[in-house]
Amino acid sequence: MEYAKLGNSDLTVSRICMGCMGFGDPGNGQHSWTLDEEHSRAVIRRGLELGVNFFDTAIGYQSGTSEQYLGRALRDFARREDMVVATKFLPRTQDEIAAGVTGQQHIEQMINTSLKNLGLDYVDLYIYHMWDYETPLYDIMDGLNRVVQEGKVRYIGISNCFAYQLAKANALAEREGFAKFISVQGHYNLIFREEEREMARLCAEDNIAMTPYSSLASGRLSRHPGETSRRLEEDSYAKLKYDATEEQDNVIIGRVAELADRHRVTMTEISLAWLLTKVTAPVVGATRMHHIEGAADAVKVKLTEDERAYLEEPYVPHRLVGVMAQNTPEAAKGQHVWSVGNQRKAGNRKYPQSLPKGFRRRTGWKA
Ligand SMILES: NC(=O)c1ccc[n+]([C@@H]2O[C@H](COP(=O)([O-])OP(=O)(O)OC[C@H]3O[C@@H](n4cnc5c(N)ncnc54)[C@H](OP(=O)(O)O)[C@@H]3O)[C@@H](O)[C@H]2O)c1
Repeated sequence: MEYAKLGNSDLTVSRICMGCMGFGDPGNGQHSWTLDEEHSRAVIRRGLELGVNFFDTAIGYQSGTSEQYLGRALRDFARREDMVVATKFLPRTQDEIAAGVTGQQHIEQMINTSLKNLGLDYVDLYIYHMWDYETPLYDIMDGLNRVVQEGKVRYIGISNCFAYQLAKANALAEREGFAKFISVQGHYNLIFREEEREMARLCAEDNIAMTPYSSLASGRLSRHPGETSRRLEEDSYAKLKYDATEEQDNVIIGRVAELADRHRVTMTEISLAWLLTKVTAPVVGATRMHHIEGAADAVKVKLTEDERAYLEEPYVPHRLVGVMAQNTPEAAKGQHVWSVGNQRKAGNRKYPQSLPKGFRRRTGWKA
């Protein structure tokens, strides 16, 4: 395993971050394909053996059960001080807004619940999961700064935002003397490269670490077009992200397969080796031993400049999809596709029945 500093922080992270969205009670949240606790623990343990020390979860993953499984496994298998644990909080709900809960109070409640789920005194990285148009930016940054001051959070990161939003947030933090975002978790992989327009440049200039999610396009960059899996069949949210551009993406996926044959490695290794040339640490979803083993192997694969250019050449710009397609003030008022399930104050409405108004039209999603 290789290690790197996470942006402007003292955190040293493995260059592969284990994504924990696939861990959690499958009957209690957005995804039907998640692993129960016993199997989650086995994958986490294998990751630790391979040198992974960076773990990404969220209160929104299977109603907090992902946090619970991860926390218990790390307590049993690892030393806390060697680990870098990241979790995420969600925007204020309409119910909280109606009840007068401020952004600061919301963040305090969310971190307290996450720490309880994880069984930890602090998290290393607390991530603003998606932009909250309903809450003043000052309140978010002040709320985050307070939990840093209290010692519940070491550093803060952001996810699913435009570069201008991150730049604005950090400018406000600088002006007020608040903690600044040190990392960004955007959607970035070989078949979805919109982060290269502005985000990558901002991060390079300000030493903000990029730790992208869906680094294998939820499995599409790991297998030949046409090959399938349970997740590929059942993950309707990933279908929403990739189905519309399947034909053009398959050209790139074909090139990944070609280079994998040439290097005698897996497609996963080629796809991640490319991303490792662009970012600090991709977040890789692992629900099997061989997933995390393949990801760890990718760190050893080095691509030539010509090979990188060959992989990049067929890309054409994509429409924003997934959470970024909802990064608008209008969508923020609607029902979203995530929830904290039974940890939420309001009822848990399940995707896809809870698609916000106009979501299908905006994103081109087909049932
Ligand atoms: N911030 C956000 O809004 C956000 C959104 C999404 C995800 N995330 C984070 O990012 C993580 C990863 O997201 P993701 O699961 O969508 O994306 P991913 O890493 O692109 O895809 C994971 C899938 O890739 C396949 N895979 C992984 N390693 C493999 C290997 N070595 N060989 C063959 N196939 C392999 C598996 O597919 P099969 O199961 O089909 O075999 C696995 O389920 C999540 O766990 C979560 O922590 C964050």
